Amino acid sequence: SEALEPQKVGSDVLNIAHRGASGYAPEHTMIAYQIADEMEADFLEIDVHMTSDGELVAMHDDDIARTTDGEGFIQEMTYEEINKLDAGSWFNEAYPNHSDPRYQQVSVPKLTDILDYFGTSTKYYIEIKNAASAGQLLQTLEAYQLIEEEAVILQSFDSKVLQQVYEQYPTIPLIQLLGKNKMLFANYKKIRKYAVGVGLPYQKLNQRLIRHLHGNGLLVHTYTVNDEADMKRLIEWGIDGIFTDYPDRLYHIKENR
Ligand code: G3P
Ligand code: CA
Repeated sequence: SEALEPQKVGSDVLNIAHRGASGYAPEHTMIAYQIADEMEADFLEIDVHMTSDGELVAMHDDDIARTTDGEGFIQEMTYEEINKLDAGSWFNEAYPNHSDPRYQQVSVPKLTDILDYFGTSTKYYIEIKNAASAGQLLQTLEAYQLIEEEAVILQSFDSKVLQQVYEQYPTIPLIQLLGKNKMLFANYKKIRKYAVGVGLPYQKLNQRLIRHLHGNGLLVHTYTVNDEADMKRLIEWGIDGIFTDYPDRLYHIKENR
C-alpha cells in the first residue's frame, strides 16, 4: 500500500527527539518538548500510558517513582493524582549541570496537552507501551486529524498490537521496535507485512544489516544516539532516523553535511 513507501516518511535522516530534548530537561514534560521543537527536531517521541480513569499520559515507565516525587503505577492512579506530581525536581538532582529552577514546577502532561500545544506544527512518534491503551490512542489521533495529516508514526516492541493497528489503520506508518537480542534473529520479511521499518539499538547495528533491511524494504531507525561520532557513522551507513536526547547535535550534523 501507499503507506509502505519509505519516501512517505521522508528520505533525509529523521531527527527524533527521544522523550523530548531529554538531555536538557526532564523527559516527557512540556518544556522538554518545547526545547526539542526549538532545536528543530522532526519528531517528538512520546511514550504513552493510561491512567485508571482512561487518560493517556506521557511517561516512559509504568511506575511513577523514577520521574516524579510520588510512588505507584500509572494504571492504578487517576489523572488527578498524576497531575499533582512534581515531574522535574528529580532531573535537577540527577543532572545538576542542566538543572533549572523552572523544572521544579513541571507536571506530567496528558498526550492531548502536547497535541493541543503543537498541533500540526510538528510530528509525533508515539510508542504504545501498553496494548490496552491503543484504542484510546487511535481515537485521540483521529480526533486531532493527525492520521490524515500524516503527522504521526506509531512504534512498539509489541508486534501483536502493531499488527492490530495495521489491520484497522493501514495508512499509519508503523515501526517495529526490537531489543539487542531479538534484532539479530527477527523475521524481517514478516515485519515488513505490517511495518514500514524497524527501530533498533545502535550498539549492534552495522552497515551490512542496514543494507540487508533496506533490501527487504524496511526503513531503519535507531535508538538512543547521543554521541556525535556515532551519529555521523550511522548517517554514513544510510540510517533513516535517529532517536536522540540531544536533537541540537543531530541538527547541526545534518546542517553541516
Ligand atoms: O522508542 C525508541 C526507544 O525509546 C525505545 O526504548 O525504552 O527508551 O522507550 P525506550
Ligand atoms: Ca520510547
